Amino acid sequence: MALPQPLLSKLAFLSSFLALISFAAADFYRDAEITWGDGRAKILEGGRGLSLSLDQSSGSGFQSKKEFLFGRFDMQLKLVPGNSAGTVTTFYLSSQGPGHDEIDFEFLGNSTGEPYTVHTNVYSQGKGDKEQQFHLWFDPTAAFHTYSIVWSPSKIIFLVDSSPTRVFKNHNSSGVAYPMKQPMRVYCSLWNADDWATQGGRVKTDWAHAPFTAYYRDFRIDLCADGTPCATQELDGKARNRLRWVQQEHMIYNYCADSNRFPQGPSIECQKSIF
Ligand SMILES: *[C@@H]1O[C@H](CO)[C@@H](O)[C@H](O)[C@H]1NC(C)=O
Ligand SMILES: *[C@@H]1O[C@H](CO)[C@@H](O)[C@H](O)[C@H]1NC(C)=O
Repeated sequence: MALPQPLLSKLAFLSSFLALISFAAADFYRDAEITWGDGRAKILEGGRGLSLSLDQSSGSGFQSKKEFLFGRFDMQLKLVPGNSAGTVTTFYLSSQGPGHDEIDFEFLGNSTGEPYTVHTNVYSQGKGDKEQQFHLWFDPTAAFHTYSIVWSPSKIIFLVDSSPTRVFKNHNSSGVAYPMKQPMRVYCSLWNADDWATQGGRVKTDWAHAPFTAYYRDFRIDLCADGTPCATQELDGKARNRLRWVQQEHMIYNYCADSNRFPQGPSIECQKSIF
């Protein structure tokens, strides 16, 4: 259907206006709360950046002051360089209480020169077991890169530098639980997980290199208010090709293909299209 010109220009004006007010850069002073680490978390650049550090006594972390029901969350991260084995840097959404929902990005460190593992998972009503893991196509410790979680009523999209890496669709009508009702906060942390993180716990944290530091910057929140779709919620042909490329070339673990762990067969959503 062709729209009359005046209506079109009104719509264009309205949508650029909405984009301006809803896609807001967060300020770590105003919008985040350092929750643990006893001085190991530091706000930088007047609120634009934040560093987390980890030593043998403690890691550190922060969370968003507000909670959100749906939204697009972008964070730039520069991960712990060098020998980061045993460390885990996180950026995730979570509700609180029993039967919680959670959408995870976790970055598992590695020995010098070995690749980080990007671990993703989705919990609905307290149940996770939906892990997919990736190796990156760049060195995530050399510069900042943008990691995004788009959480809408119809799907969750994980993006790395705007490349979709994983899509988790709402298959509630087929009986797959989906995070729909519980508001979530954004959480970020750097902690020691050398009992499992690196090569299954075989490579331990080398405390001689402590403190370990990860940097966060340019946190942005797009609220997708009132069910309005977030930007990039729909994947066009190019985004679908990119998703296929990431999944084929860079995925190192997929719960959908793990028949040892799930001898009863893959979960229902695994049998559907990945888009
Ligand atoms: C699907 O959504 C309905 C309505 O929100 C809810 O009652 C039901 O428990 C959901 N199903 C699953 C499997 O989560
Ligand atoms: C660490 O490097 C090894 C060897 O390249 C790789 O198999 C593994 O996936 C990497 N990541 C972690 C977290 O162990």
